[in-house]
Amino acid sequence: MRLYKKEGDTLKILCFPGEEVEKGDYLAIEEDGRCLLVQVIDTQFANIPGMLEELLRDLAIRDVAEGEDVDALDVGSHLAYIQDARLLVCKVRGALKAGRPTVERWLPSRVHSKIRSLKLSELLDILGLPGELPIELGWGRDGSHVSIDAKDLDGRLNIITGKKGTGKSHLSKLLALGLVDYGATVVILDLNGEYVNLGYTPEGEKNEYYDRIVVLRPGGNFRVSLAQTSLKIIMGILVHTFGLPGTSAREFRRIWSHLKAQNNLSMKALGEAIRVWKCNELVRDALYSRYYALVSSGFFTDDDGEAVDLADVLKRLDGGGLLIVNLRDLSPSHRRMVVEYVLEKLVELLSSWDSGAIFLFAEEAHLYMRETYWDDVITRMRHLGVFTTFITNQPDSLGENVYRQADNIFLFNFTNQRDLEMVSRASSIDAETVKLIANELPPHHCLILGYVVRDHPVVVKVRALNVQTMGRTRLFFASMPIVRAARSSASQRAS
Ligand SMILES: Nc1ncnc2c1ncn2[C@@H]1O[C@H](COP(=O)(O)OP(=O)(O)O)[C@@H](O)[C@H]1O
Ligand SMILES: [Mg+2]
Repeated sequence: MRLYKKEGDTLKILCFPGEEVEKGDYLAIEEDGRCLLVQVIDTQFANIPGMLEELLRDLAIRDVAEGEDVDALDVGSHLAYIQDARLLVCKVRGALKAGRPTVERWLPSRVHSKIRSLKLSELLDILGLPGELPIELGWGRDGSHVSIDAKDLDGRLNIITGKKGTGKSHLSKLLALGLVDYGATVVILDLNGEYVNLGYTPEGEKNEYYDRIVVLRPGGNFRVSLAQTSLKIIMGILVHTFGLPGTSAREFRRIWSHLKAQNNLSMKALGEAIRVWKCNELVRDALYSRYYALVSSGFFTDDDGEAVDLADVLKRLDGGGLLIVNLRDLSPSHRRMVVEYVLEKLVELLSSWDSGAIFLFAEEAHLYMRETYWDDVITRMRHLGVFTTFITNQPDSLGENVYRQADNIFLFNFTNQRDLEMVSRASSIDAETVKLIANELPPHHCLILGYVVRDHPVVVKVRALNVQTMGRTRLFFASMPIVRAARSSASQRAS
């Protein structure tokens, strides 16, 4: 390999056939004890002046030549070699002086510098990764193991994004279980009910996580009592989820205080109080309709034995565990209500719990998280110890602010330029890198950007997991005897 050109922070390097280099790989340009670390972001043919002419001549000769082809000096193979040369477009990511990272940059010599492929494991070593608490993610293209440090997710805001079916949820399961391995408490807002079987092996046996996983199904094994619910939470639900207007909300406050003073907070008492409360009929109607929405959600119960206290659940998971809130099969408004409850409850618990922190994984959060929560999640909630990972296949659903504050981005394949545009605006890495690498990532491969890789973008093939990564999936054809019958008759016909 040979240095050819430098344009801004882009280096162009000539590379001959046989030197196997791909997009995403790192190269070391070494000279006099100094070393530039560059990443290949694109590979092109080397368009040497005269090359087109040479190719055309070659083509013309091949077409007209008849009889024996004599090439006594073996010029042909040499030409072919040159014609196949590639130009590597590279970005400078870092530099080393006497083996230590430096912020200095310089222009390496075309003549004296030596360029070699850098193994991903070498790069990670240089960066001091993965540190104390490794979470094994998978492998680089050269077979190097890639792990990240669980500590680098601590206190951070992460985004996992990419097209549908590329492996986002799989990675979030891997990260969540990795955090649990180190004793973290992880809460998952599971939109599609696909995290619920993480406690089982693919064969259906209980695995080592079984006892550290609690799956809550709102309206099923997850119902709460009004007595455990603060006014703030219930008001949040009534106003934000069920759109209770201001005047009625004030009246509700009075009713609530009245019931609380009597130590009589229950759904039954609340319904009765609304019925007899002295107020405007319109207000009563407004309160009644929201009350019935609460009742019909089945989320609230007056049975203390049945009511789940999240504080107890989290206590049970202390020392490492996964709380999965299964939002599958809930209507959009019930989903929002449950999420409002869970998030506010977590904040309440964390405010009175000095040491604790929670890692929150939220799939397609725009479907159940209200607008004002976005800023909350990245400021207030983060401050209190809720560290969020957003998972989405619609990058524009997250909003600019989330991107600006994101510390780590795990990017899977996107072919849509608009999606890539959105993500690239967010990362501290140049847009060109993000676009060129991400649109060619195969499934299960992800480009890691941000703090976890110290701003050295790394492509990794995510490893498989030895747990049941699928939830209960309803398929139409799989369970139909008629399909089997049709298949066997088709195969009979064929034979
Ligand atoms: N690294 C991986 N190794 C093995 N299987 C994977 C991997 N990543 C994803 N899968 C499988 O591919 C399918 C799609 O992955 P999933 O994570 O659900 O995609 P997404 O959430 O991006 O839509 C799932 O069946 C999942 O189990
Ligand atoms: Mg998914």
